[in-house]
Amino acid sequence: MTKIIILPGDGIGPEVTREAVACLDLLSDHFDLGFRFEEHPFGGAAIDACGDPLPESTLKACRNADAIFLGAVGGPKWDRAEKRPEAGLLGLRSALGLFANLRPARVIEGLEDLSPLKAKVAAGADVLVVRELTGGLYFGARTDEGEVATDLCTYSREEVERIAHVAFREAGRRGGKVTSVDKANVLATSKLWRRVVEDVAAQYPDVALDHMYVDAAAMALVAAPGRFDVILTENLFGDILSDQLSVIGGSIGLLGSASRGEDGPMMFEPIHGSAPDIAGLDIANPAGAIASAAMLLELGLGLPEQAAMLNNALEQVLVDGVRTADLGGDARCSGFGAQVRERLEARLARHKAMIE
Ligand code: NAD
Ligand code: IPM
Ligand code: MN
Repeated sequence: MTKIIILPGDGIGPEVTREAVACLDLLSDHFDLGFRFEEHPFGGAAIDACGDPLPESTLKACRNADAIFLGAVGGPKWDRAEKRPEAGLLGLRSALGLFANLRPARVIEGLEDLSPLKAKVAAGADVLVVRELTGGLYFGARTDEGEVATDLCTYSREEVERIAHVAFREAGRRGGKVTSVDKANVLATSKLWRRVVEDVAAQYPDVALDHMYVDAAAMALVAAPGRFDVILTENLFGDILSDQLSVIGGSIGLLGSASRGEDGPMMFEPIHGSAPDIAGLDIANPAGAIASAAMLLELGLGLPEQAAMLNNALEQVLVDGVRTADLGGDARCSGFGAQVRERLEARLARHKAMIE
């Protein structure tokens, strides 16, 4: 039995989660993987249910899981809550030690027209953002005295080292290039970041390293996304750059992510938020959630064959021209999910015929 904790969360979270979990369920049935899905309250939904965005029972279930799947949290209803849904998300990442967040984005061949960039600029872009997830401004001390407020940014050598190792290892398996993004012309944490990344790079002679300031990186990402392979960066810069990167392939609704710690279960979530402006309308793009489910199979459970089948079915749906509203179409969230499962079932039937 493989226990997968499902945290649908708020807004479009439950809508996109439903489609992704149905894909996992299909694969579990076919390959007899014994997935057991256990849903827990999280985020705004948990505030409503029990006054806490990260209830103790949810955290305990996550600690004991084989993998965790999250939809999205937050929304205007809870923006003035004492402890916001987003605090629950940060609390969960921190409690599980999920320091490394992998956010891959790719312009699919033949689908360059989905990009708001010129096709010749977008073509071939294939970037992995390795975002530090449990340090920096997100987790520093804060003060707010009414007219003056402070957020403290701290990084230690150890924190930078471990995320740098993740980036270099990933680059070794992909394009062999790390671009470390910082603001070392101003920030002390960035100066440390750059020194430590240089030190770690010495252990990976086959991986090329360059450094960019975050402002220049934001510019280069839209001017020449093809120049990047792995972007290694701190928590806040990674948050911002990955939203920007997502649109290069067409929409924020396309990107999935995986978060890992030193050990323990990994967590998988689309990079987008709860999208309150379209929640409840069944028009969200579930592709990022489905891509996250494929990452869960590959990285969380060590099932690369099943992950490839799901990714392949997802890509086929896009290649076949099925488009949700974010990509200019009128496909429903549920309809897009059903189309992915239809393509997946066809692949599973072929697989079955092959082994019989
Ligand atoms: P958002 O990502 O929710 O939405 C930004 C824009 O992108 C909106 O116009 C939205 O409709 C669109 N969009 C997002 N996902 C989409 C999808 N799958 N399909 C189609 N369109 C999609 O960001 P926001 O509006 O800044 O934040 C809304 C709430 O979500 C806030 O409370 C924020 O804190 C929270 N948030 C949560 C997460 C998370 O749970 N991991 C991530 C980001 C934001
Ligand atoms: C994300 C989100 C979160 C972040 C928020 C909701 C705390 O934007 O997962 O990208 O900033 O990390
Ligand atoms: Mn974000």
